[in-house]
Amino acid sequence: MIPTIDQNRLLSEIDALALITAVEPPAVTRIVFTPADLKARSWMKARCEEAGLTVREDAIGNTFARWDGSDPAAPVVGTGSHIDAIPNAGKYDGVVGVLGGLEAIRALRQSGFRPRSSIELLVFTAEEPTRFGIGCLGSRLLSGTLTADAARKLTDSRGATLDEVRREGGFGGELERVKLASGYYKAFIELHIEQGPLLERQQIPLGIVTKIAAPASLRILIEGSGGHAGGVLMPDRRDALCAAAELILEIEGAARGSGGVDTVATVGICEVFPGAVNSIPSKVRLSVDIRDTDLPRRNLVVNTVETKCKSTAAKRQVSIQTELLNADAPVDCAPAIIEALSQSCRKHELKFIPMVSRAYHDSLFMARVAPLAMLFIPCRHGYSHRPDEYAAPEDIARGTLVLAETMKALSE
Ligand code: GLV
Ligand code: MN
Ligand code: MN
Repeated sequence: MIPTIDQNRLLSEIDALALITAVEPPAVTRIVFTPADLKARSWMKARCEEAGLTVREDAIGNTFARWDGSDPAAPVVGTGSHIDAIPNAGKYDGVVGVLGGLEAIRALRQSGFRPRSSIELLVFTAEEPTRFGIGCLGSRLLSGTLTADAARKLTDSRGATLDEVRREGGFGGELERVKLASGYYKAFIELHIEQGPLLERQQIPLGIVTKIAAPASLRILIEGSGGHAGGVLMPDRRDALCAAAELILEIEGAARGSGGVDTVATVGICEVFPGAVNSIPSKVRLSVDIRDTDLPRRNLVVNTVETKCKSTAAKRQVSIQTELLNADAPVDCAPAIIEALSQSCRKHELKFIPMVSRAYHDSLFMARVAPLAMLFIPCRHGYSHRPDEYAAPEDIARGTLVLAETMKALSE
């Protein structure tokens, strides 16, 4: 029997979750382990329990909601995404994969299907890097990409450690135990909005992701010399912000000149000290994100940026220090899961195209421990990470249907 997606139920849940936010709706802000995040987690757990799933949480707060298969020893078919949100975000990023995943499971149950492999919905902790500077904390720990020791040392901007805030949030237990046993998953699929304009432009309802680009994140600290904005004459200045301005353009140039369309670089944060209109900036901290689907090419851009830091420091007589926060490797999705998704699309005569994910996702890390692919649906104008992010109800329902059909095929 074809699973029936209850589009109205799914949409009303997406709307309800969007109201759990630290800021005025329609903007959504849910930073990991803040009250809004904790409230959203409890709300989500209640929805999973209502659906008859067995919920467990690990020490970092990754939440697993399981539908037991007839062979409990068989590797699991998994789906999921995240519900944390960057400041001033929209309501679909991550949420479509979580609530769509839940709806897919409910639809399969209601269709009378009985899986052999258990099917699990996974809600990852902190896909977004907002609080601790690196994203995908839950999936990094699950995949063993981040060690428990390194995780414990992460601190937020107020100096609180990840270990403290997860315990305050109610997640005790040993971080060492978060890593998944090898072979835990038979397959993993993440449903997500595209966060780019291609599906909408081409009027194609679905994208099957074949490669996920990966970021390197750098912090750059520039120290010059401060002083009175009136008193210090131009030849005597060592303005940290002027050095930063040159460097930002060098970073842009390094990405543009890489020779690959998939190379992108962004300076997303520029903190200026002391930050007074009549004071020469003495210190600047830049946060830089450099991504590509090709690891050597991405690393070459990172090296170029480091070289440009040295030359700018010499030219401008400032000191420049770089700190590499993470440099993850891109991944290729698993051909078998790509094929399973393609077959579900064909079964329902739905058009799809292969795509690159230029955003990163927990799937980037889960792909290291599970055969994995992602399924994209269009979002209006490609907007994401902003309150007017929007995905059409039919697109959300279509993606959920293909997800359900594919999990069914993989769990039989
Ligand atoms: C994830 O949100 C990303 O920055 O790609
Ligand atoms: Mn996001
Ligand atoms: Mn996301």
